[in-house]
Amino acid sequence: MKSVLHLPETTSTNDAAKKWAEEGAPDGAVVIADHQTAGRGRLGRSWHSPPGVNLYLSKIYRASFDLLPLQGALATRETVQKYLPPDLTAAIKWPNDILVGDYKVAGILCELFEDFALTGIGINVNMTDFPQDLRRPASSLRLIAGAEHDRDAVLKTVLDRLDHWNSNPAEVVGAFTNHCITLGREVTVTLPGREPLAGTAIGLNERGALILKDQSGVEHTIEAGDVD
Ligand code: BTN
Repeated sequence: MKSVLHLPETTSTNDAAKKWAEEGAPDGAVVIADHQTAGRGRLGRSWHSPPGVNLYLSKIYRASFDLLPLQGALATRETVQKYLPPDLTAAIKWPNDILVGDYKVAGILCELFEDFALTGIGINVNMTDFPQDLRRPASSLRLIAGAEHDRDAVLKTVLDRLDHWNSNPAEVVGAFTNHCITLGREVTVTLPGREPLAGTAIGLNERGALILKDQSGVEHTIEAGDVD
């Protein structure tokens, strides 16, 4: 396997991966932690990261950054799907929340720096206690499937699927479109400090930005935000 750093505890695997990348870690290096004391989500939010139950990992990329958020979402969705009962489906809520029904079970935080980029993935594997103040309902593979899962097996699956999507960039936008529940819906997009924007999510551009058609028929390209 490529370079892997397994930490018992860190603030955030994205922080540890950034430091390692700045010190020269190679393309494809991976940081995994059993516990994050300051796990981070998108848009400055925190990511609840209790010890010993979930998967927290960050992968370092030194090239081909454009599709990383989509590739991360596809790999994570497939991983979650693999551990679900056959009658349940894992879906992507744009940009990269992984949902089973209304419940969020995984998220992806990509960060771009001058010489490298990071894909940080959090999967709720065996967690059973959730904080009260979560923005959206959350769950875990264990709660949904009714059984504990081996975190190493889940890790292997997600790393394999990341490799697959990193090696097949031409298929990424199409695959993402197939699994994205946001498309075709009436949605409101919010971004901190901006007016909410309502419209129909009509598609994705070649980099995965959301195309929203408002009531006047004007199309907007949304690079980041929350969709409700
Ligand atoms: C989100 O849904 O807002 C993104 C959550 C991303 C969480 C993962 S856990 C591993 C990596 N380290 C972090 O601090 N965040 C990401």
